[in-house]
Amino acid sequence: MGKENNLWGGRFESETDREFFEFNRSFGFDARLLVADVRGSIAHCNCIEKAGMITGEEAESIRLGLDQLLKRVVADPDILADEEAEDVHSFIESKLFEIIGASALKLHAGRSRNDQVATALRIFMREAIGEVVLKVHSLQASLVGLAETNKEVILPGYTHLQKAQPVLFAHWCLAFFEMLRRDRDRLEDVRKRLNVSPLGSAALAGTSYPLDRASAAEELGFDSISRNSIDAVSDRDFCVEFASAASLIMVHLSRLAEDIVIYCSTEFGYLTLSDAVSTGSSIMPQKKNPDSMELIRGKSGRVVGGLMSLLTIQKGLPTAYNKDLQEDKEAVFDTFDTVRDCLSVAATVIDGLAVNEDKCRSAVSQGYLNATELADYLSRKGMAFRSAHEVTGRLVLLAISKGVELDGLSLKALKEYSDLIEEDVFEKLKPEAAIEARSVYGGTSATRVRSQLEEAVAYLEVEQPD
Ligand code: ARG
Repeated sequence: MGKENNLWGGRFESETDREFFEFNRSFGFDARLLVADVRGSIAHCNCIEKAGMITGEEAESIRLGLDQLLKRVVADPDILADEEAEDVHSFIESKLFEIIGASALKLHAGRSRNDQVATALRIFMREAIGEVVLKVHSLQASLVGLAETNKEVILPGYTHLQKAQPVLFAHWCLAFFEMLRRDRDRLEDVRKRLNVSPLGSAALAGTSYPLDRASAAEELGFDSISRNSIDAVSDRDFCVEFASAASLIMVHLSRLAEDIVIYCSTEFGYLTLSDAVSTGSSIMPQKKNPDSMELIRGKSGRVVGGLMSLLTIQKGLPTAYNKDLQEDKEAVFDTFDTVRDCLSVAATVIDGLAVNEDKCRSAVSQGYLNATELADYLSRKGMAFRSAHEVTGRLVLLAISKGVELDGLSLKALKEYSDLIEEDVFEKLKPEAAIEARSVYGGTSATRVRSQLEEAVAYLEVEQPD
């Protein structure tokens, strides 16, 4: 690698080792920042023009050259297969030189690649976050759609994966809707905090040129300018925040995936995945595997891994920029791609999900999901809840020994355990009654769930992502 080919050759006497050149270069992945870096470069060009550091003619030539470069890349993406470019910033500068000649060499006054990369990454990420927010919104809409088409379905609710109490299937759907609502809030919060312009930081100490930082920031759609040049070029906390918000999305998707995988098993059979998002086995002809959901569950590991990388890369770095920070990009890009694709596939899965109402109903009617109802019944009739719990527990034992459900015990048998039990108990033990009783705000009663659904529909309408 000839030292004259890179941006910093003057001080060097001998050539860069080829293996180290490959090791050092980031163009293979940071080419994704090309558009963002060109935008940052145009804003910087305007800034140095206003400061009188380049003529209007030179500025125009730089702007046209950068524009042409973008057009060339669109027309022929193969030019990105440049084996000599160290990173996206040096690539842009060398191509600009090829296109417009010597004026290209003036563009770098008052800036460093450190501010370029911090600027471009922030531009890229706020757009990436916008895309992820869109996908979150679509998945929320899919969950609402699924809840609406299955409004009446009653599902066993579990704790410890043991049958607990009946819940409306729509209530289960809306639980994930709520997780995603917070996920979106977190993303928007990250976006707000990262939308700050580092331009003008010039490596670390701030530029010595009279640059109008605020106008460059405004031109690039930043909300404000950074207050400290050292901090602006050296902290990647916004990458960690994004990876953290993305990790939580993936944890939520992974939990959704786990439920769906379980509910699609023959043993449960509550849900059936559409063929479009399932695969078969090369040896067992009967198989229909929920690979889509398993992959989402698995990919959560890689997003959480990205978060760990980003934290570890930054821990213990001396102030300010260090080349370690080049390692942030692959984690950020992979996190973005993974979370976007997983949200998208999850929505397709939800859209094609069939709910097997009969299986759900028979699962609800077995396994003593109405035991809490019996305890509540006794407690409402004046028995202390602890005693009601004890009596009901003994009745469950009796029912197990007889191989029946609680409503399979005769009134006479029930009365032997408590005189408070009357004929009306059988009505209370029905799953519908258990559901209706849970009419507290946030509970699973049909009325509550209906109003939760209405709120969700209104939210989706009002909170359309921009
Ligand atoms: N490719 C580098 C990165 O991603 C760009 C900044 C390089 N700056 C430097 N002084 N070497 O971090």
